[in-house]
Amino acid sequence: MEEIIMSKLLSPVQIAGLDLKNRVVMPPMCMYDVQAEDGLPTSFHHAHYGARAIGGVGLIIQEATAVTPEGRLTKNDLGLWNDAQGQALAKMVSELHQLGTKVGVQLCHAGRKAKDATQPLAPTALDYDDQGSFKTPKEMTLADIEEVKAAFVAAAKRAEAAGYDMLQLHGAHGYLINQFLEPMTNHRQDAYGGSLAARFRFLKEVVAEVKAAVSLPIWVRLSVSSYAQEGTSLADYQTIARWLEELGVACLDISTGGVLPLSPNFPIYGGYQANFSAKIKAAVEIPVTAVGLIKSPELAEYLLQNDQADLIEVGRELIAQPNWPAQAAKQLHDHDFSVYNHSYQRGIGQL
Ligand SMILES: Cc1cc2nc3c(=O)[nH]c(=O)nc-3n(C[C@H](O)[C@H](O)[C@H](O)COP(=O)(O)O)c2cc1C
Repeated sequence: MEEIIMSKLLSPVQIAGLDLKNRVVMPPMCMYDVQAEDGLPTSFHHAHYGARAIGGVGLIIQEATAVTPEGRLTKNDLGLWNDAQGQALAKMVSELHQLGTKVGVQLCHAGRKAKDATQPLAPTALDYDDQGSFKTPKEMTLADIEEVKAAFVAAAKRAEAAGYDMLQLHGAHGYLINQFLEPMTNHRQDAYGGSLAARFRFLKEVVAEVKAAVSLPIWVRLSVSSYAQEGTSLADYQTIARWLEELGVACLDISTGGVLPLSPNFPIYGGYQANFSAKIKAAVEIPVTAVGLIKSPELAEYLLQNDQADLIEVGRELIAQPNWPAQAAKQLHDHDFSVYNHSYQRGIGQL
């Protein structure tokens, strides 16, 4: 009998505290589609995530979900700052589980990039850009810091109650946690600014307090390069990665950018952030994801086989192709379409 060699990409794996049917992860992607501005999921969210679950994704990480109304990127974001949101999301999580995927949620506070906030908060009162599209933030007091940490904890508890399999803290893309980590956005003179350890303190406390409150695996997404000379260096992010590992973080989701307005020379090519994942992976034992224009299954498999990452996140390509895992199975000669129901197999087999 012909032996079928399964790809790493599509083989089941136990990783970061989760049993996953494959290593294809849908990264958090804001849909800005909560028209009622109440942070509640709509039929769009159910269908959008449901389609990727049917499509065979191993883990869906729900889009940036705000821990406070003022911490939303826009007023059309999802939220987990009240119990009604927790209950509505629990229904969606249960549906996604029935469709055979694991599901996590990314908890976020946008800080100075909270576009619709009355008064955005930030480590330091510095504008994001000079275009006037974002308001000047208020420098957070120690009381503000305590309040936002408590909001992360409360949202994490609601996430656990809602049945999510993991939660991710959004420490990337220039949002609040990232603003604390970077010297360009954090000029504080107190215990939360200055040295790397001091700039890490806010994230450290959020992780520790969330971890004390829930038993879900905690992931952290980091932008390990701001593409700015004066930014926190990759070596310093390797140190941060080790500190997060020591705190018991289950997985690091490695991204870049977003702290400062995008430079026109921002590198864009298939796997453009994978080298950053590999460098963080070399510094820690915990699993690391790779993301960024990983559209081809062969590139995904290459990154896994060459130990550059443990999980592959497919973002925009999954928006374009909800059944991307089936396409990948075909291209990687796995041809195991049994995860799809009979009728889907008839269609997907033709891909
Ligand atoms: C429409 C859209 C919304 C996004 N929203 C988020 C988000 O909520 N949280 C986040 O961490 N990254 C967000 N991202 C970044 C993606 O998670 C991903 O890192 C990025 O798109 C690169 O991967 P890709 O080339 O596979 O799309 C978003 C990207 C897109 C295209």
